[in-house]
Amino acid sequence: PLLQDAFGLTELEERIRNHYGLKQVIIVPGDSDASAHVKMELGRAGAAALRKAMKEANAVVAVAGGSTMAEVASHLTSAVPMKGVWFVPARGGLGESVELQANTIASTMAKKTGGQYRLLHVPDHLSEEAYQSLMLETGIVEIIQAIRAARIVVHGIGDAMVMAKRRKVDEATRQSLVSEGALAEAFGYYFDRQGRVVHKMPTIGLRIEDIEQMETVIGVAGGKSKGEAIDAVLRYGHEDVLVTDEAAALQIAEHM
Ligand code: BG6
Repeated sequence: PLLQDAFGLTELEERIRNHYGLKQVIIVPGDSDASAHVKMELGRAGAAALRKAMKEANAVVAVAGGSTMAEVASHLTSAVPMKGVWFVPARGGLGESVELQANTIASTMAKKTGGQYRLLHVPDHLSEEAYQSLMLETGIVEIIQAIRAARIVVHGIGDAMVMAKRRKVDEATRQSLVSEGALAEAFGYYFDRQGRVVHKMPTIGLRIEDIEQMETVIGVAGGKSKGEAIDAVLRYGHEDVLVTDEAAALQIAEHM
């Protein structure tokens, strides 16, 4: 453990919760940057938080992609099939590899819980023209409506430049992210240190204004290297539940 006994995780959870006005903060011990086991525990805790939010039947859950969400999906279970729950990807075509795509994670979550899912097939790096014509497709319009009807969103948080690199964002965009002060990334939006949205990936699905209307926004992210990014997304101010690890939480506390 990184913390001395006198200053426990529960106290740290409470401090973070109060500071950012969150409903709930869950911290798992350790550093998921350094240990695959801790990342697994982060996924398990994320799955528990999501299960709690999904209590009511007929929930629509929008899920983001990433390796942390993949861990959440692999720990999601349900004793009785959740037939009325729908899993949908939060946004399409962010340039992730298949295993890390929101579509893949939404379908895994549905399979693990006995729920339903719908996929959003959108190519990466949409041009404005392609975007406009996609939005006229009936199939796309329907799934977009389902996504925007979501009451719960569960997402990871990444370091802006790490995410830009992983998604093979072009050099010009990378430069502008740097000059705009992008520090954090979540669901295809980039945030600066103050939590202001400075850039969005050109794709369709949930808009930032949909996130702001959402009943429950659950962020799951850990590892010492993500502390600053998590702080930036919390400053944005629309998270309800944070599931993180001790190493990230200690970094967050330094920024509060
Ligand atoms: C992306 C999500 O797929 O994964 C983002 O859209 C998130 O919300 C990112 O920032 C985090 O990835 P990981 O692998 O660090 O959990």
